Amino acid sequence: MLLQDKVAVIYGAGGAIGGAVARAFASEGAKLFLTGHRLAPVDAVAKDIVAAGGSAEAAQVDTLEEQAVEAHLRSVIDKAGRVDISFDAVGIPDTTILGVPLVELEVEQFSLPITAYTRSYFLTARLAARRMVANRSGVIMTVTAIPSRTGTPLQGGYGPAQAAKEALTRALSAELAPQGIRVVGLRPNGIPETGSLREAFEPRAKALGVTWEQWQEQLAGRTHPRRLSTLAEMANVAVFMASDQASGMTGTTVNLTMGSLDD
Ligand SMILES: NC(=O)c1ccc[n+]([C@@H]2O[C@H](COP(=O)([O-])OP(=O)(O)OC[C@H]3O[C@@H](n4cnc5c(N)ncnc54)[C@H](OP(=O)(O)O)[C@@H]3O)[C@@H](O)[C@H]2O)c1
Repeated sequence: MLLQDKVAVIYGAGGAIGGAVARAFASEGAKLFLTGHRLAPVDAVAKDIVAAGGSAEAAQVDTLEEQAVEAHLRSVIDKAGRVDISFDAVGIPDTTILGVPLVELEVEQFSLPITAYTRSYFLTARLAARRMVANRSGVIMTVTAIPSRTGTPLQGGYGPAQAAKEALTRALSAELAPQGIRVVGLRPNGIPETGSLREAFEPRAKALGVTWEQWQEQLAGRTHPRRLSTLAEMANVAVFMASDQASGMTGTTVNLTMGSLDD
């Protein structure tokens, strides 16, 4: 198993991507400490994993609160002795911002995703890295999206937020890789089976002038295989990137867009 006995903390594990990554990590033998903004969805994921024979504990952690992240990591170290993998899969709700043209957007609304996404990633990465340095080993991971690299309309500060996270992945790696810690991101295309993709589409539907089905076809049409990827495909790559098999990968974001976006 690729992650046998690795101690992994996943933030936003009650969400679509965090939950899929948690299940995939568990099936490869990882010992999971799952966290979420609300406890109930994370608890459900942890119970599923335990019922399937895996190891998972759930906790409520707001990743925008430094003390909450710190206290949780302290409890992980107390229970498991170390942290090998930190994965920030947090998605900041932005339904009131999506659909508003940039020229009409208030600066506070524009800044919100940039501040929140970077704060979450910075705090979870920094606090995990402080533990990982002691073992000269660890992997810090997150997830971004296509607007990090290409202009997409009516998404406010979401694209700049994703671009900032990818820049932070490179900066963290430049400082931490000499101490044995790898830092890698994943950049999936839209994954239709996640409820969040539809939530991101609905506020823009009218302005984009297409239905949900037509929009998925448009996104799929830009990929080389003419289809969007699945949560399972994304999670399989997450497992590989978290494993020692990917020891040659750091300071980069894996392009999972299947040709939609050139490197
Ligand atoms: N879905 C896609 O197709 C897709 C594609 C590419 C990239 N992405 C990116 O991947 C990330 C996750 O997406 P997703 O589809 O998994 O979204 P999701 O299903 O909405 O999950 C997001 C999770 O983040 C949690 N969260 C929000 N604020 C938090 C906070 N302050 N502290 C801790 N947890 C918090 C939410 O918890 P609560 O529900 O309890 O608030 C939720 O469980 C996002 O950055 C998204 O942009 C998604």
